[in-house]
Amino acid sequence: MAAAAGVLDPTKSEVQGLDNLSPALKTALQDLEAKFTVDRQKLKQISQRFEEELREGLQKDGCNIPMNVTWTLGFPSGDEAGEFLAVDLGGTNLRVCWIVLKGREEEKVVTQKKYKLPAEIKTGEAEALWRLIVDSLEDFIATNELPRDDGEPLALGFTFSYPAHQDYVDHGVLQTWTKGFDIKGVEGEDAASQLTEAMKKRNLPVRLVALINDTTGAMIASAYNDPETIIGAIFGTGCNAAYMDHVGSIPKLHTDLPDATPMAINCEYGAFDNAHRVLPLTKYDEAIDRESPRPGEQSFEKMSAGLYLGELFRHILCEMYDKGLVFKGQDVKKLQEPYALDTGFLSSLEDDPFREARGRFEDYLNISITWEELQLAQRLAEIIAVRGARLCTCGVSAICRMKGIESGHVAADGSVANKHPKFKARWAQAMGEVLDWPSDRKEDPIIITSAEDGSGIGAAVISAMTLQRVKQGNMAGIRQQL
Ligand code: BGC
Repeated sequence: MAAAAGVLDPTKSEVQGLDNLSPALKTALQDLEAKFTVDRQKLKQISQRFEEELREGLQKDGCNIPMNVTWTLGFPSGDEAGEFLAVDLGGTNLRVCWIVLKGREEEKVVTQKKYKLPAEIKTGEAEALWRLIVDSLEDFIATNELPRDDGEPLALGFTFSYPAHQDYVDHGVLQTWTKGFDIKGVEGEDAASQLTEAMKKRNLPVRLVALINDTTGAMIASAYNDPETIIGAIFGTGCNAAYMDHVGSIPKLHTDLPDATPMAINCEYGAFDNAHRVLPLTKYDEAIDRESPRPGEQSFEKMSAGLYLGELFRHILCEMYDKGLVFKGQDVKKLQEPYALDTGFLSSLEDDPFREARGRFEDYLNISITWEELQLAQRLAEIIAVRGARLCTCGVSAICRMKGIESGHVAADGSVANKHPKFKARWAQAMGEVLDWPSDRKEDPIIITSAEDGSGIGAAVISAMTLQRVKQGNMAGIRQQL
């Protein structure tokens, strides 16, 4: 648990020399610190409200947090095997994978290729999206000389990391786009059928077996190797988690399956507190929401996920520039471009030695930054990232409390979890605060682990589990005659 004070104490900083800032900058910074600090009591309050919203989502449809059933029925045994295609449509990339599973003890074979997901696609028409996916699949199949000889269509797991209502594992009606996507013609429609249609038109030798979320994928892929996995969580461009519940604890689900049947739930908790009851929103959060394609949605995600951290930082610096506090007399055109800075910029800023950080401002923003401004920027990056990491514990702790989970592994993936060097320590600290872990503990009972590739391997394992069910004649939650 030993780490520098700034990493673990939300009110302290690791940035050196802040005392020497000019009085004007000091005042501005203190004001921001007050607005962005989420103390233990507030964390607990948020986490409690979170638990209420999780429970509401299990009760009925149409709640803030949709708690989507996924028809992934239970954890994998570890014996699942076979060859699978996976398409991963995340927030930033499109990826196609070929995965050979041979059981838990054996090495997996993964061949993959990333395809460009041009910005125009994200706000264009459905047809262009499916064309891009089918083009990429076709290229991948040809390059890797798939399928081989048996003439059977290739089994595909489709990782569609957006809120989708699933009546079956091979079905998913998009509830709303998130992460800045705004493609016309998919919301309210079944994304699995749309992809299947597009593949048919092109005569691709592929059949869709499962549509999955990246969080469910992270949980299942990790559980394939690590039976202590309790939750799959993404702390990346977006934020969300999946966990395993039981059919009997999901009152809104009408099914003949026995109550004890395990069912993975994709919470979609980026939508927590859309009614703005507890989250400590600042005017910068409000501005980001206003300027997004879906104002009023994904309130929690917009305060904590990677897509928005750099944007928060940019908003604050722009305001300081307008007030004449920083970058006086400089051309800040680049800084004024929405989403000009990503989370990578923030995380390196927290770590960079002075010269590199200065260079980064010059390279990315054409701004020549003074020593004092740089200290301020480093502190800002820290404040924003600490708030994000602390808020990220509220959803996971709420799931743990709701299910009475006291120990286990949270399989985490995403750019913030993997690339921000201080995220995991900050998260662990805040988990202890929310869940009242004793301060003299030897180790944390719930720890964050690096997830297996959920969007690739997870899609393959869930497809294998689905095909196994078909073989056993257990068609619950499976639409097609696979
Ligand atoms: C999406 C989720 C996804 C998360 C992480 C959110 O914006 O709605 O489906 O799991 O991002 O990728």
